[in-house]
Amino acid sequence: MIVYFTGTGNSLAAARRLAERTGDRAVPLRAVRPEGLAAERRLGIVFPVYCFDAPSPVREFLARARPSPGAYVYVVATCGASVGRAIRTAINLLARNGAEAALSRKLRYPDSASVAVGANTNPKSGRCAAAEAGIDAIARDVEAGRRDLHEVRGSCAAALAATRTGAALVSWAFRQEPDPGRCNGCGLCAKVCPCSNIEVAGGRARIRERGRCAHCMACVHFCPRQAMTIRGRRVRSELQYHHPGVTAADLFA
Ligand SMILES: Cc1cc2nc3c(=O)[nH]c(=O)nc-3n(C[C@H](O)[C@H](O)[C@H](O)COP(=O)(O)O)c2cc1C
Ligand code: SF4
Ligand code: SF4
Repeated sequence: MIVYFTGTGNSLAAARRLAERTGDRAVPLRAVRPEGLAAERRLGIVFPVYCFDAPSPVREFLARARPSPGAYVYVVATCGASVGRAIRTAINLLARNGAEAALSRKLRYPDSASVAVGANTNPKSGRCAAAEAGIDAIARDVEAGRRDLHEVRGSCAAALAATRTGAALVSWAFRQEPDPGRCNGCGLCAKVCPCSNIEVAGGRARIRERGRCAHCMACVHFCPRQAMTIRGRRVRSELQYHHPGVTAADLFA
């Protein structure tokens, strides 16, 4: 089984291709019981890097995951540039529950966070195509049962982001806020949110709990009316990004 978490589809596309190449199945993290993994002989964990670390839902999942001690476990982190300590976090959490990761890799994709500073993620940069070649190489290693850990390191930036002040800063920097003037209550953001943290009430989207948001940006990038703002600033349609092979429906299928 390949368990994935995704916001804008990069990790889903990677998990899907890995599954095709290895004959496994890719399953969204929200559909997997972390305590029910004991029968899996091979387990892949695919997730994006957020603020130099693994996303909070992934950390919570891995903290409760109980793979079989004999299972072949591997970790793939998708990122814009640097994985920070994301892979180390995942490996350590697995190890706490008696699972030793055999293989870890990173894949570079367009950066889903760059809109927060008004920058273009440049989906045509060729990174998605380059990542596909990387996935195929990972699949070959997995099939061969290779044991080889890459990108296992700490990160001062991640440690700072984890402090109370750092977390407040991150929460401010990526603060999603529906614009009541643009939102028509279509509910797509609620459907794609991997944390079930958006509801539509009175014909308008509303974030349920700030603390539950993983800052995955799905709601921002998939909103058809560009009504999900970052700190009140509208994200123009040409800056919205999702993996070209992934649709909104893929996220909630
Ligand atoms: C809130 C946030 C923080 C991010 N932080 C990092 C980072 O620290 N390092 C990095 O290389 N990429 C970072 N990214 C980019 C994502 O890791 C990258 O685009 C990833 O492939 C997105 O995967 P997804 O489409 O499966 O959500 C960040 C993205 C978001 C939304
Ligand atoms: S996807 Fe956009 S328009 Fe639709 S409910 Fe969400 S914020 Fe409103
Ligand atoms: S509210 Fe938006 S950014 Fe936060 S977890 Fe849900 S979809 Fe992701």
